[in-house]
Amino acid sequence: MQSDNTPDPYPGLTPLWTPEQISEHVAGLAGEIDRDYAANPPVLVGALKGAFVFLADLARQIQTPVEIEFMRLSSYDSGRYSSGYVRVAWGPARDAIEGRPVIVVEDILDTGLTTSVALRHLRRKRPSSLSVCTLLDRPERRTVDVKADYAGFTFSGHFVVGYGLDLDQQYRDLPGIYALDADE
Ligand code: IMP
Ligand code: MG
Repeated sequence: MQSDNTPDPYPGLTPLWTPEQISEHVAGLAGEIDRDYAANPPVLVGALKGAFVFLADLARQIQTPVEIEFMRLSSYDSGRYSSGYVRVAWGPARDAIEGRPVIVVEDILDTGLTTSVALRHLRRKRPSSLSVCTLLDRPERRTVDVKADYAGFTFSGHFVVGYGLDLDQQYRDLPGIYALDADE
């Protein structure tokens, strides 16, 4: 809701975190990863599509040299939240992962189902270690036992969009993170 006469640039969205606040949290996560992986440069595996913005910023804030891979998970979800059925459409080649420390980079850890499927897929390719870095963590909705090793913002409630996160493919391009109004 705007308090003055300026038109609302994003009707129906309430700002939650600004690009500056996000950037501070990303820098904090990058610092933790540098501390833990300086001697052992990791492979970052971004979960598409949602993690593409976060991965790009995170990789550039991490000082340790990293390699970048992607994987695509399809969950047949439309609207809010996932349908409860997730599969790996495609993932990194085995030789990109085998014997390497791997960090899965996620936009949001919600029920945990998507991340658990990603971890199971990657574990089969024999990384030397496997951890999870998520920008957003909503632990109250967890139904699968997955924990984030690195989490930017931990929150509850609202469905959020922006900074890579979508509602029906909309809003991924917004630089900040917003709550959808009338979230029930
Ligand atoms: P999970 O499998 O329930 O943990 O859900 C993970 C996926 O659901 C994320 O990668 C998102 O694509 C989607 N998701 C869950 N919560 C939100 C949200 O608040 N905004 C946008 N997408 C979400
Ligand atoms: Mg989605």
